Amino acid sequence: MDDSDSLLEALRSLEVEALTAVRHASDAATLEALRVRYLGRKDGRISAILRSLGSLPPQERPRVGSEANRVRDAVEAAWRERKSLLDRAASAGREELDLSLPGREAWRGAKHPVLQVVDEIWEIFRSLGFTRARGPEVESEWYNFVALNTPLDHPVVDEADTFYLKGGYLLRTHTSPVQVRVLEKYPPPVRIIAPGMVYRRDTPDPTHTPAFMQLEGLVVDEGISFVDFKATLAEFARRFWGPETRVRFRPSFFPFTEPSAEVDVKRVVTKADGSVEETPWLEIMGAGMVDPAVLENVGIDPERYTGFAFGMGPARIAALKFGIKDIRVFFDNDVRLLGQLALP
Ligand code: PHE
Repeated sequence: MDDSDSLLEALRSLEVEALTAVRHASDAATLEALRVRYLGRKDGRISAILRSLGSLPPQERPRVGSEANRVRDAVEAAWRERKSLLDRAASAGREELDLSLPGREAWRGAKHPVLQVVDEIWEIFRSLGFTRARGPEVESEWYNFVALNTPLDHPVVDEADTFYLKGGYLLRTHTSPVQVRVLEKYPPPVRIIAPGMVYRRDTPDPTHTPAFMQLEGLVVDEGISFVDFKATLAEFARRFWGPETRVRFRPSFFPFTEPSAEVDVKRVVTKADGSVEETPWLEIMGAGMVDPAVLENVGIDPERYTGFAFGMGPARIAALKFGIKDIRVFFDNDVRLLGQLALP
């Protein structure tokens, strides 16, 4: 280490030492003694360092010199701040401002648990080559239903009958319309993840809220097969829940995928006593191979391109992860929840 490095290091520890002492000075006499010790022109410690600059090679001097000036300014500023606080305390009378009282701890915010899970899921898909996409929460019937191969007289439209606005617009009931918006704009290959809020006329209960987060995934390219579909989602589940996680695809129905599946996972958990146990099967998403009709609706040749899509509910996944029994707490707006579920 050369001389300028050791001077810079001395300056840094001097800065910490001086700022700590100044900020804790409890009376005017102590504060004055600190001024002499650190900032004094003749015997002050910062002045001493500035004086020793002469012994450095000329090209090193500006670097150390400007750092010394910065430290002096910082200590001076802290000193003035403390001085005015102590002066005010003195004139107000000690009873009114008791400097020995502990400070109030600032409230520290934290990322919402559902968004923590969205970020975790996103990281996994990002590493698999996906990009992030988003779409509007106010949608037209075309994007929410029709383009997704769901004619407006289809029974699922009744189930999704939801918050309508003027002019055939509605609050989207799922994030699947983002599939259509992305495919309209970007030619394949497409690999996207689209998180966002969706709205349904659901009565709130421990596993339903009328507004909730969904996370849509879509892959469209040449030669995408059912094998890619299963392998991608199984890989996701193993990375998210651990390598022993098992994945099951149950036949299902969605108008915009064919074939369609519900994807379940069975996790291996280690209990408090160290024993290892498998959980029951748990449904985590709806998914399937993109229906050729959807590709045709956006002008993509289904003979050439195929793909898969999936949609999951991160609130349920977060509830599972954090051991929450009632997902309504995610919307109650009680900030104590965020404090408890903050990541370390
Ligand atoms: N949009 C479906 C839902 O909300 C989920 C889904 C997404 C199914 C993509 C298949 C493909 O239930």
